[in-house]
Amino acid sequence: MNLPLSPDRLWDNLMALARIGATPGGGNNRPALSALDSQARHQLVAWGREAGLTLKVDRFGNMALRREGRDPTRPPVLVGSHLDTQPTGGKFDGPYGVLAGLEILRALHEAGTVTEAPIVLVNWTSEEGCRFSPSMIGAAAAMGVITPEQALNAPALDDAERLGDALTQQGWAGTDDLGLLGAAAYFEAHIEQGPILEAEGFDIGVVTGGFATERALVTVIGKDGHAGSTPMPMRQDALLAAAEMAVAAERILLARAPEGRFTVCRFLVTPGADGVVSGEARMAMDFRHPETAVLEALWAEADAAFAEIALRRRVQVAREAYWRFPRVAFNPALAERLRVAARRHGVSQRDILSGAGHDAYHAAARMPAVMLFIPCHGGVSHHPSESISREWAEQGLRVLADAVVETANAKV
Ligand code: GLV
Ligand code: MN
Ligand code: MN
Repeated sequence: MNLPLSPDRLWDNLMALARIGATPGGGNNRPALSALDSQARHQLVAWGREAGLTLKVDRFGNMALRREGRDPTRPPVLVGSHLDTQPTGGKFDGPYGVLAGLEILRALHEAGTVTEAPIVLVNWTSEEGCRFSPSMIGAAAAMGVITPEQALNAPALDDAERLGDALTQQGWAGTDDLGLLGAAAYFEAHIEQGPILEAEGFDIGVVTGGFATERALVTVIGKDGHAGSTPMPMRQDALLAAAEMAVAAERILLARAPEGRFTVCRFLVTPGADGVVSGEARMAMDFRHPETAVLEALWAEADAAFAEIALRRRVQVAREAYWRFPRVAFNPALAERLRVAARRHGVSQRDILSGAGHDAYHAAARMPAVMLFIPCHGGVSHHPSESISREWAEQGLRVLADAVVETANAKV
């Protein structure tokens, strides 16, 4: 296909967006629905308007920028990702997928090419989960995976505010029905965020699915005490019990190396005061494995280890899962479309599974969906030094463009 795609313009847009919320190490800090996220959204709207796109915003702040098809009644083809970042995020996690989609629509606009089905560029609200919990709220709400109330009441990590309040404050509480649930397909391009493609010398990854994931809050209750005068055997130290549980969980996941992934994302201690034995500790624990049944077995093993530690250390432990999904499978026909496009462009490829969560997982629950990965240097992501080459950005763009436009022109 001969669309006048401009990889240089895509790159310039990525760099321009990265100036919004730039951090000293070359990264980005643009939490969901912050003033900076809002600024990035307005920039996207401005670029979209230049490309003749029309904007709709739903009550969750999800943005849909639409290019009409020859048959406006046909279900649209969606392409998108997210503009929010982690506090120590890089320039590409999220924006690459949004701006690659924008470049496709801009090229269609400039070529005067009308696809059969409409194409809608989507920026999902609050993918990262670092300001409001859990991750991927906008996509989950739009796809009906969580209720509107759950989405709007999603708490900030410090529990000081709700997602719905931030939407109103920043002016992104829309009223439109984006009609995304009935869409024909969803495409998301993203950086791999891992080391495989670069290490093995592949230009793109065709993402066939994603790891099963479960994040839970583990709460350990002991008893506050004096750091100096409480004899060691009398203590009910929640922090030390939690620390031992974290190390036990790590050991359990390491036994399933290399697929098992374990993270304590947050560790909160109460009262957290000098001179006091901690009476309460809470950990956001994140377990991942490609197989859902293995993930469940790993948690069962961890629960048993936590119970043993709690008994021995005379504390109580409770665990509440708040973010989970089974192994995700993307659409084989759309994956094949990406492979064929890659071959056409002489771009090397391999199939790959995603360890990271993505908005595409929620879309995949409702429609044919697929992802395309481009490599990133050293597999580094969620770090300011996250980086890609211009060539990788271009190859991903060309393959994505073919697959999106073909899907929008496919016979129904
Ligand atoms: C979300 O993006 C995650 O994988 O943690
Ligand atoms: Mn991302
Ligand atoms: Mn991320």
